[in-house]
Amino acid sequence: MKSKSISLKWSEFDSIVKLNQPDRELVIAARKAAENAYAPYSGFQVGAAVRLENGLIVTGANIENAAFPSGICAERNALSNSASNYPDKKPVAIAIAARTKNGLTLDPVPPCGNCRQVIVEEEFRNSGDIRVILSGKSKIQVIEKGSDLLPLQFCRNNLNLNLP
Ligand code: THU
Repeated sequence: MKSKSISLKWSEFDSIVKLNQPDRELVIAARKAAENAYAPYSGFQVGAAVRLENGLIVTGANIENAAFPSGICAERNALSNSASNYPDKKPVAIAIAARTKNGLTLDPVPPCGNCRQVIVEEEFRNSGDIRVILSGKSKIQVIEKGSDLLPLQFCRNNLNLNLP
């Protein structure tokens, strides 16, 4: 028997002003996108902003549904938006922000498991890392690649399909 481990490294900032300009811009876009969320059931409004390799920013918000599982998260909306409209442009970063009735959350908002899976798929599809920027009012965490957030992930390699 061998004991193995995986560790996670991230950078942490105590204010949005400490971020570099492109990341700051991405967080602001995610915060703005959260304002377009449709979240009458949870009251938790999430925004995500994807930066493409050409600098363009594409956003998404969570859109809930009375049939709860039909709702969709902000991250997946943003990534579907970028993949559908700019299929030949790599996403290089995604910022996430959320607000409640009290305004922006203090703590950074991490992507749910489904969204992590979708971020990883985009990394494989485009052969490139996607930096993940989790933003809260009091703290911002930057993880250098989405796959770091999904250890021992199930991915296309597990299907043994000889994909291109
Ligand atoms: N939500 C997101 O949009 N992204 C996440 O990664 C976590 C959760 C949404 C789903 C639902 O509309 C609300 O937040 C509460 O879970």
